[in-house]
Amino acid sequence: MRARRNRKSSSGAPDLSRRDLLKGLGLAAAGAAVPPGCATPPTARAAPALRRVGPGPTSVAFTLNGKRTRVEVEPRLTLLDVLRERLDHTGAKEVCDRGACGACTVLLDGRPVNACMVLALDCEGRDLLTIEGIGTPESPDRAQRAFCETDALQCGFCTPGMVTSIYALLRRHPDPTLAQVREACAGNLCRCGTYPKVFEAALRAARERKG
Ligand code: FES
Ligand code: FES
Repeated sequence: MRARRNRKSSSGAPDLSRRDLLKGLGLAAAGAAVPPGCATPPTARAAPALRRVGPGPTSVAFTLNGKRTRVEVEPRLTLLDVLRERLDHTGAKEVCDRGACGACTVLLDGRPVNACMVLALDCEGRDLLTIEGIGTPESPDRAQRAFCETDALQCGFCTPGMVTSIYALLRRHPDPTLAQVREACAGNLCRCGTYPKVFEAALRAARERKG
């Protein structure tokens, strides 16, 4: 078999058999099915070392708003449960509890995530920022100030999630376009319909930074 695969044509180029060609195409098709941004097919990666946890509480440690934090959690608990019920960080709101509304948005390693869709145990060693860490009433972030100045809230239930998404956007794009603002808030639902004011607040916060 090896001799047959390595044979050369008269031109000197490798002379592939029909079977070799089909195998190659199969691999190419499999490669095309790899999700975007995933450089290596999952099956080709080394399997991570597995650690058996639960069903009882397990220790997890992460950085929360700049502070090293360790907490005992049951493996079934979401990050949102742990933030609200164990760590007294109630800024992220529980509304749908199924990843549909964005009211529980927090930053995990700098990226917005729905805390109701992340297991607390998966935050081991990671960096978390919640609305409490973005600013305080005494020292608000410019995004928080712009929300107040623009009157960009009604009931306020979506507001922590909206502000967190916009804070993350302004870190990535200090001078965003309206389209970028809308895209950044696409996962945050506002039942009161304050979207125009929210967009205005985001652009105002960006202008303040420039000015
Ligand atoms: S409560 Fe998490 S997305 Fe709605
Ligand atoms: S201000 Fe009420 S849900 Fe957005």
